[in-house]
Amino acid sequence: MIKNNKVALITGGTGGIGTAICERLYKDGFTLVANYKDFDKAMKWREEAKKWRENQLQMGIDVKIVEGDIADYKSSERMMKEIQDEIGTVQVLVNNAGITRDTPLHKMTPEQWFEVINTNLNSVFICSRLVIEGMIEKKWGRIISISSVNGQKGQFGQTNYATAKAGMYGFTKSLALETAKKGVTINTISPGYVGTSMVMAIREDIRNKIIEQIPMGRLGDPKEIASAVSYLASEEASYITGSDISVNGGLYMSR
Ligand code: CAA
Repeated sequence: MIKNNKVALITGGTGGIGTAICERLYKDGFTLVANYKDFDKAMKWREEAKKWRENQLQMGIDVKIVEGDIADYKSSERMMKEIQDEIGTVQVLVNNAGITRDTPLHKMTPEQWFEVINTNLNSVFICSRLVIEGMIEKKWGRIISISSVNGQKGQFGQTNYATAKAGMYGFTKSLALETAKKGVTINTISPGYVGTSMVMAIREDIRNKIIEQIPMGRLGDPKEIASAVSYLASEEASYITGSDISVNGGLYMSR
């Protein structure tokens, strides 16, 4: 594996899709940083991440872990300073952290709305704002935000989540215009239903009905999202900006 001397920050890197993104970008030669809010969980995850590959007699993945709440500007500012001082300039940002608080709007509490908007969308502003100047200075950067098929088509019980995920498209296209001449590309990936704990938390009968509607007849694999991230982060994707890659097994075909 050849190191490429670039630092990649994956928010929510310890989650289902996040872990696969870490594995893939590590293989691609990036120096990886993942953030956490829960120290114990993150340390346990980091140790496991090293072991997985060793168990398969392959190279362990080494991920640097930094503490920071990406829904909070001050906390993220402190985290980004730590990354800059101790690791280097973030040149790939993957806005991957996301939560669900699914419930029909007539039952939704303000907490369920704001938690999702803060974690899934305001974090995109916060993290992008804090790394964009470094990327422009280096004349090379990639911001890849993990949106969702449900930001494109809507979903029963997800007014909060679908709003946050749809918001990423407007953000991406606008920032892409601002950075097009500066070597920095801004894109989204829109996964469909992927086999992670988030999807497994959907009531089984509802989940099975959703799977029936997926033309490929199965959930996605986190690796199938990670490979799209890898491509957008690569040199080969240098002419793609303000764009979206849908990875959804045919569940929704836009344009
Ligand atoms: N369209 C129309 N009506 C629907 C419906 C749908 N898709 N789903 C449910 N309803 C109806 C039901 O038939 C029911 O009607 P009646 O009262 O007349 O019987 C009513 O709405 C209530 O439905 P539920 O019993 O399901 O309501 P609930 O409050 O128990 O559950 C819910 C609501 C938690 C939102 C549940 O419907 C659910 O989990 N839905 C799936 C949400 C989902 O897809 N989440 C994705 C999570 S993973 C993710 O987000 C990753 C990603 O990016 C894809």
